[in-house]
Amino acid sequence: MAARNIKNRLEQLTERNREERLSRLREEVQAFWDSELEGHFWAEEKILEMFASHVGPQDEGIGRILQEHRQMEGWIRDGGEKELGQLSELLVSHIRFEEDSLFGRIEGVFDQEEFDKTIQILAEATPKVIHIPGPAL
Ligand SMILES: [Fe+2]
Repeated sequence: MAARNIKNRLEQLTERNREERLSRLREEVQAFWDSELEGHFWAEEKILEMFASHVGPQDEGIGRILQEHRQMEGWIRDGGEKELGQLSELLVSHIRFEEDSLFGRIEGVFDQEEFDKTIQILAEATPKVIHIPGPAL
């Protein structure tokens, strides 16, 4: 998974290679955003809009996801070594929260029409396949 890869790559930085490797890692994280994460966040937020019509826009779970998405976007856009480390940690806990709590709540309230719409949204967000030179993320 990308998050673990970011963490491993940060752990391999040394005084001698830091500048070059960090800048390469930042480029790859940006490419990961462009090819995958941006569409993924977009799709989730469209789905959360439908969920909000059931539970209200003030729902704590919805608020948490939106806040964490904005936080991660900011770190990807202009984060340094520290922020990329934070990104790798938040990505893991974020996905865990979605899978363990939020998605089950959504499944519990969506009707057939909303499930169909969800499938449509996810299909639209299918990541672009791009070639990233260098070590895979
Ligand atoms: Fe998310």
